[in-house]
Amino acid sequence: MSALTLENVTYTYKNAPKSAVSEISYQFEEGKVYAVVGPSGSGKSTLLSLLAGLDLPTEGEVAFEGESLAGLDLDRYRRESISMIFQAFHLFPLLTVKENVCFPMELCGVMPRDARTRAEVLLEGVGITKEQMGRFPSKLSGGERQRVAIARSLASKARIILGDEPTGNLDSANTQNIIDILVSLAHEKGYCVIIVTHDMEVAEAADVALKMRDGKMKEIS
Ligand SMILES: Nc1ncnc2c1ncn2[C@@H]1O[C@H](COP(=O)(O)OP(=O)(O)O)[C@@H](O)[C@H]1O
Ligand SMILES: [Mg+2]
Repeated sequence: MSALTLENVTYTYKNAPKSAVSEISYQFEEGKVYAVVGPSGSGKSTLLSLLAGLDLPTEGEVAFEGESLAGLDLDRYRRESISMIFQAFHLFPLLTVKENVCFPMELCGVMPRDARTRAEVLLEGVGITKEQMGRFPSKLSGGERQRVAIARSLASKARIILGDEPTGNLDSANTQNIIDILVSLAHEKGYCVIIVTHDMEVAEAADVALKMRDGKMKEIS
């Protein structure tokens, strides 16, 4: 099934001479990893914010499981249906690794004890040890921190993962590790993973590579 559908989507910033995203139609499906590449200024971040419901298209429509985002409660959509991972991780520095993963669950009303149990399962799933779970994020390597950020994003029920350069700060071994995690989430658990990246390693590992240029998007593999 199609997780996110774009129909003739155009986005033009106020007072901008041309559209940042221009007449894109595309279906992003469950169970696949998509990599979006393209030069700076080609519209990648704008596209991601349209998929995340941070902005609505100026023309056309973005639909989640067949429903136009224009008709959805967008705060709820962002909280429950998508999760985002960033280059800079955005972990809370004064919470331990485990507390970082528990926090969003507790915000959603999960009992603290259940949240802790689930956090351990999620963190173990991305290769974080019990001992590391008690540390503050500053006491982990970049690759470990990114894995914690992924575990935290999996705490929600969201089945769509949007990434903005999630491997941007990582060396090749850690990048490969993150790729493996994202690919297995898509292939084994049916997540739809859409990653904006400059990293050819990521683009090659994706099921579908898409290239943006001047606001247009096309498949390159
Ligand atoms: N807030 C904004 N106001 C006006 N123009 C913007 C704004 N943000 C981005 N743009 C323009 O939109 C185009 C696409 O930008 P962006 O989506 O950030 O591209 P990318 O992420 O591929 O570098 C660029 O021409 C950029 O200058
Ligand atoms: Mg950008």
